[in-house]
Amino acid sequence: AGPCDIYASGNAPCVAAHSTTRALYSAYTGSLYQIQRGSDSTTTIIKPVSAGSVANAAAQDTFCASTTCVITIIYDQSGHGNHLTQAPPGGAATGPQANGYDNLASAIGAPVTLNGKKAYGVFISPGTGYRNDATSGVAKLDAAEGMYAVLDGTHYNDACCFDYGNAETSNTDTGNGHMEAIYFGNNTIWGTGSGSGPWVMADLENGLFSGYSAAENAADPTVTYRFLTAVVKGEPDHWAIRGANAASGSLSTYYSGVRPDVSGYNPMSKEGAILLGIGGDNSDGSQGTFYEGVLTSGYPSDATESSVQANIVAAKYAATSLTSGPAVTVGSSITFKATTPGYTTDYLAHNSTNIILEVVTSSSSTTLQQQATWTVVTGLGNSACVSFESKDTPGSYIRHFNFVLLINVNDGTKQFHEDATFCPQTALNGDGSSIRSWSYPTRYIRHFSEVGYIASNGGPETFDSTTSFNNDVSWVIGTGFS
Ligand code: AHR
Ligand code: AHR
Repeated sequence: AGPCDIYASGNAPCVAAHSTTRALYSAYTGSLYQIQRGSDSTTTIIKPVSAGSVANAAAQDTFCASTTCVITIIYDQSGHGNHLTQAPPGGAATGPQANGYDNLASAIGAPVTLNGKKAYGVFISPGTGYRNDATSGVAKLDAAEGMYAVLDGTHYNDACCFDYGNAETSNTDTGNGHMEAIYFGNNTIWGTGSGSGPWVMADLENGLFSGYSAAENAADPTVTYRFLTAVVKGEPDHWAIRGANAASGSLSTYYSGVRPDVSGYNPMSKEGAILLGIGGDNSDGSQGTFYEGVLTSGYPSDATESSVQANIVAAKYAATSLTSGPAVTVGSSITFKATTPGYTTDYLAHNSTNIILEVVTSSSSTTLQQQATWTVVTGLGNSACVSFESKDTPGSYIRHFNFVLLINVNDGTKQFHEDATFCPQTALNGDGSSIRSWSYPTRYIRHFSEVGYIASNGGPETFDSTTSFNNDVSWVIGTGFS
């Protein structure tokens, strides 16, 4: 059985079932997600390999070979047609894309294996979001519902609001109790749990709640499982938050009781839209990774959720490599040589804190050679990727800021560490390596007008130009000068 077969037999059927990694019904053979590639803007649909199975990641890899891909649609497997697509602008934020829409997620930002078979999750960077404002069958007003999501408990931030669940149909904040969604992260503007976070909380609108009090609820623990099962469910004057390691063990109840002691949350005023990666008003500063999740009609029993958790554990989520292509070895001294025709004697170098292209040869000054030489270190923000320390300015690293590359002193913050983490992969033009930003996996180290950026293939920035993209993001990594 799949999770939604289990909910159905527990009298709380799925009314939305989203996953890019696997079928959530044992008989499901339909669409899991749609991707669009950068080379020609065409789309394809990824389905399970067989009924009830893991997604056909090989079909994605073939379709996206030598180009970029984004996830355009996450299909609803429940039959209700509640598909998630690019989120529209909202009351709090206008997205970076055309007409204020949010960004779409890279198709390769969150690779995993399920029972040893490769699949891809949905890596949400700040600015990214999915939504459906015209759903069917989803709980409204005070009606009972349940939901779970499998997330990456190591990918989060403190911005508002990495959510999955029930929200406003207008993309605006329409008041307390107009949302009921899973939140994951270490935002402290509203409620908190114990420790420093991240926490599973419920976004009920104008508040992230960890329990009855709008402030701290000590029974809601900090959870950082690499694979995290997060549960929120609500019925008239009763709701719960639960969580577990998605790779082993069983669910714990972090809160189960009456609605919060703040007016507007009892009864609830749920509206029935579904969102992923954003707040109800399209607040879009948050980040996180989503693998699978559902919304049910009816309040699932703890026993039903126990069976769902066992099913998730049996799916055997495991981490897999974030890199490919030529080895970029920790401890080595390297250079990045451009591969764009006309620039093949240019190297990525720093000039003060700026990152630019410079022609460097064996007879260049030692100063210039060192400016173009980098030491590979373990990724400051993710140990499965790497960071690049300046040869002549130890303690300073290549990082992006507003998508512009700089070298800055490591200030020890989570933000710096993530901005300085890159995942090398086989070059998009086949010549060397392309260096993907860990935190913005639609973006790669690129030269544009001889300046360094992290660029996406056809994004909103000038330096996101599709012209010469594959060449500009492909670098031959050689041995460091000096
Ligand atoms: O409830 C927290 C957030 O507050 C909601 O997601 C958003 O709509 C509002 O800004
Ligand atoms: O480069 C994009 C973002 O810009 C970085 O993550 C952040 O440091 C800055 O706001």
